[in-house]
Parts: sequence; C-alpha cells; structure tokens
Amino acid sequence: MSSRTGWFVLGVIAALVGFLVGAYLFVSLGGVSMETTAQPLPLEATVAHMALRASIGNAGDQKNPLPFNEANLLAGAREFKTHCAFCHGIPGQPRSAAAAGMFPKPPQLFKRHEMVTDDPEGVTYWKATHGIRLSGMPGFGNTLSDTQRWQITMLVAHADKLSPAVRTALGQ
Ligand code: HEC
Repeated sequence: MSSRTGWFVLGVIAALVGFLVGAYLFVSLGGVSMETTAQPLPLEATVAHMALRASIGNAGDQKNPLPFNEANLLAGAREFKTHCAFCHGIPGQPRSAAAAGMFPKPPQLFKRHEMVTDDPEGVTYWKATHGIRLSGMPGFGNTLSDTQRWQITMLVAHADKLSPAVRTALGQ
C-alpha cells in the first residue's frame, strides 16, 4: 500500500470515528427529544416511511379472501370498536385524549383525509398483523384471527361508504 493510500484510509477511518462520536454526543446531550410533543427530527418521517415501505414489500398484492358483504363489515365494526377505536376513533367523534397525546398521532380512520380507503387492503392487513414499530401501532397477528383482521381491513377500506347499520355497530 503506498503511503498516499495509507493516509486516505486513515482519513476515512478518522471521519467515521468523528461521525460516531458526534452522533453519540448529540443523542447523549439531549439532541433527540423523546417527548411526544417535540418537533420531528429532520428526515425522521422520511426514514420511517422508507423503512416501513421496505418492510411491507409487496404485501399490497394480497387480496381480501372474504366476500364483501354486510355480515363481514358488521363483524369488522365490532372488532374495530374493541381493538382499534381507542386510538383510531369512530365516525363523528373527536380524537381520544390518548390518541391526541401520541407521537406519531394515530390517523382517525373514519375522518376524511386520514382514512386508508385508497390503500390496497393487503397493506392495511399487513399493518394490522405486524404493527408499526416505535409508533404505538400494535401488531395483532398473534391475538386476532386472519378472518378478524381481514374483516377489520374490509371495514376501514370502505370507511367512506358504510351503511347506517355498520355505523351504529361502531357506536356512532
Ligand atoms: C394504541 C394505539 C393504537 C391501537 C390500539 C391501534 N393502532 Fe393503528 N396506529 C397507531 C398509530 C400511532 C399509527 C401511526 C403509525 C405511523 O404513523 O407510522 C397507526 C397506524 C395504523 C394504520 C396505518 C394508517 C395510515 O395512514 O397508513 C392502520 C391501517 C392501522 N393503524 C390500523 C389499526 C387497526 C386495524 C387496529 C385494530 C386492530 C389498530 N390500528 C389499533 C396506533 C394504534
């Protein structure tokens, strides 16, 4: 190895060590606030979305195996009320105090602009099954059956066109 290459390698190592020490000091001196009310860090949302997209992969190709009907929507509404409404709300009701205090805030799945009606059902099913780490969104893969998760998925995927009976079952 020529001495020029040697100095170059040393420079790269010094830069890496400098970066790690800097990152350590930044975090240990409070640069990353853990308060839910703190502003997001630069690039925090970008990195989180990138990691989430990569984890979901092509789960969106998976279609809902259940027939689309009122019985499945009603069952989905009952499950949603028990397991999801506390964070994701029900039609016509304000965000719960707990949901308002979270970071990131759970989207209100019956509120226009926060609904997931445009997402492929496979993606919503993936999120309900595996959860979203470091966000407060639980995974229900070990606690709810596949059928229950597909019923809830069907419900939130059609949140903008539910019958009065399903809305009543949601407790509106
Ligand atoms: C303890 C609170 C909590 C509960 C209970 C909860 N979630 Fe969530 N959920 C969250 C949070 C927080 C996020 C936002 C995650 C993010 O932004 O990365 C989220 C995100 C989601 C998303 C993605 C929304 C979007 O805009 O992409 C879906 C879909 C979802 N949850 C479905 C459910 C379902 C279905 C249930 C019930 C089976 C449920 N959640 C229960 C907190 C919760």
